[in-house]
Amino acid sequence: MRKDFGAKPWLYPQPVLIIGTYNEDGTADAMNAAWGGLYDSNKVVLCLSAGHKTTANIRAQGAFTVSFADAAHVVPCDYVGLVSANNESGKMEKSGLHVTKSAFVEAPLIDELPVALECKLIRINEDGNVIGEIVNVSVDESVLGEDGNLDMAKFRPISFEPVHNAYHVLGEKVGNAFRDGAALK
Ligand SMILES: Cc1cc2nc3c(=O)[nH]c(=O)nc-3n(C[C@H](O)[C@H](O)[C@H](O)COP(=O)(O)O)c2cc1C
Repeated sequence: MRKDFGAKPWLYPQPVLIIGTYNEDGTADAMNAAWGGLYDSNKVVLCLSAGHKTTANIRAQGAFTVSFADAAHVVPCDYVGLVSANNESGKMEKSGLHVTKSAFVEAPLIDELPVALECKLIRINEDGNVIGEIVNVSVDESVLGEDGNLDMAKFRPISFEPVHNAYHVLGEKVGNAFRDGAALK
C-alpha cells in the first residue's frame, strides 16, 4: 500500500542554500533558500520572494553567492532564514557569520561555510525566479582531500526535510554514479 499526500513541494534531498549579497550601504546580507538548484550546466535558479532584501540586492548588484549550509552551522543558517535585513540592520552581526568579498562577483562569501558558488545575475524570469551564471566555485582547503578535490568525508552539507521542517546531514557514500548501474546492462 502507498499513501497519497497530494501536491506538495517535496524533493529529496532539498538543499539548504545560503545566499550572500551586498546591501546598498556595502554591508552584507545572507538568507536561507531551500527552493533552488541547478539550471542548465552553468546556471543556478533560486525561487526567491520579491519582498526579501536579498532579492532587491541581487537586482541592484547583479550578483550573489550560494553557500551550502553545513552541520556545524545549523543555528546561524536557520537564523538568516528567520530574520530579514529589511527589519534587522544587525542581522549579520547577530548571525555570527563573517564575510569576505568575492574576487569574482560583487557579493560576499561566508567565511564559515566552506563551499560556495559565485554567481552573476542573468535574469529574473517571468515567475520571479532568479537565474544566475556560476562564474566560480570556491572551496575552503579545510574540506579538500589529498587529491585536491572536495572531500565528502570532511564537508557535511545539510538538507532541508520539508515534512517535519528539519535539517539532516547528508550521509555516507553508497555507490558510484554513472558506473554501478552498468552491472545491469
Ligand atoms: C529552511 C528555510 C528555507 C527557506 N527557503 C526560502 C526560499 O527558497 N525562498 C524564499 O524566498 N525564502 C525562503 N526562506 C525564507 C527566507 O530565508 C527569509 O524570509 C529571510 O528572512 C529573507 O531574508 P532577507 O530579507 O534578509 O533577504 C527560507 C527560510 C528557511 C528557514
